[in-house]
Amino acid sequence: MRGHTVGVSRRVALIGATGSIGRQAIEIVDAHPELELVAAASGSTPIDGLAPLTQVGGDLTELLDRAEPDVVLNAVVGFAGLPVTLWALEHGVDLALANKESLVAAGDLALAARERGGGRLLPVDSEHSAAFQCLDGRAPEQVDSLVLTASGGPFRGRTRDEIADVTADEALAHPTWNMGPKITIDSATLANKGLELIEAHFLFGLPYDRIEVVVHPTSVVHALLRFRDGAALAHLGYPDMRVPISYALTYPARSATPVPALDLASGLTLEFHAPDLETFPLLRLAREAGERGGTYPCAFNAANEVAVAAFLEGRLPFLGIGEAVEETLSAVGGAPARDLADLVQADAEARRLTVRGAAVA
Ligand SMILES: NC(=O)c1ccc[n+]([C@@H]2O[C@H](COP(=O)([O-])OP(=O)(O)OC[C@H]3O[C@@H](n4cnc5c(N)ncnc54)[C@H](OP(=O)(O)O)[C@@H]3O)[C@@H](O)[C@H]2O)c1
Repeated sequence: MRGHTVGVSRRVALIGATGSIGRQAIEIVDAHPELELVAAASGSTPIDGLAPLTQVGGDLTELLDRAEPDVVLNAVVGFAGLPVTLWALEHGVDLALANKESLVAAGDLALAARERGGGRLLPVDSEHSAAFQCLDGRAPEQVDSLVLTASGGPFRGRTRDEIADVTADEALAHPTWNMGPKITIDSATLANKGLELIEAHFLFGLPYDRIEVVVHPTSVVHALLRFRDGAALAHLGYPDMRVPISYALTYPARSATPVPALDLASGLTLEFHAPDLETFPLLRLAREAGERGGTYPCAFNAANEVAVAAFLEGRLPFLGIGEAVEETLSAVGGAPARDLADLVQADAEARRLTVRGAAVA
């Protein structure tokens, strides 16, 4: 078990400790004596001894109540991370947010919880961490537009016909990032960039028509902000999640990481182009769901989670993911998202419709 360190200044609760983000976060905590891991949780993988308080599955808010953390790193995958996001924001505890799905599904509720609780929302998604740093507290009125970059995934440049028969193994071979399976498939379909578009809307208070997505194959520029005076600020770095994880956990100290400094002299390829929305319709569907608002983003996320799981298990073809999500979004009622009960219902309805419509049960 990790012992208590003398002079510790930040108590960290790590939820989703066994995943890709979780493991990298443990590396960051281990490297910084001022960070103390007081609680850790997973969905089903055993984690005995990782922290003084541990929990596998169940109601994670009870663990958070007992742990009394200064910062919660939400590294759970999917809608299951929502109670953790809401707990931190309600309690005025800093939230280092990797679990983008919770902000997508419950953006208005999460922002209202932050308003009441007063905690800081520190993005861990690399693009949003980058934008947060370029924005540096400036008001949305000063921003002309935000540009999120996408690697384009393993099927960038291919046509629909060329990706009709791709396997899960091919889709899991991401060119620039090494991540958990769900987000890797989301990167291959561009659903991930769609989720990030909605996440950025809620994080930075920008309307959707001022958030652009461009494909940037080397993933060196993580985000760029165009300001109203004509200046543009970009955030550059090698694709390595330890940088945004460390930034969020040690904010505003910008502590050292083992990630090398950017080497310009040996050449950098900074190429950008528009995404292919015909081959990768999930980015378009996410934008539409975001613009419609209410429970549509929640339904988009739920349908996508079900379809991705089905694809990973070989029950749905790659292009079936977009088709299933489109079908579900055209069938849901799109009620307003007044409270958590509305969202839980919208999530369940979208899951049911996706299973039925795409025959992925
Ligand atoms: N990986 C990246 O580089 C990256 C980059 C940006 C954003 N993100 C975001 O970060 C989040 C995590 O991604 P990941 O790639 O780290 O996923 P991952 O490798 O699949 O890990 C997911 C983690 O969530 C836990 N979990 C799943 N269901 C849970 C539940 N019901 N209750 C508690 N814990 C649960 C898992 O525990 P078990 O081991 O027990 O299943 C695991 O620890 C996602 O929202 C993703 O979009 C990831």
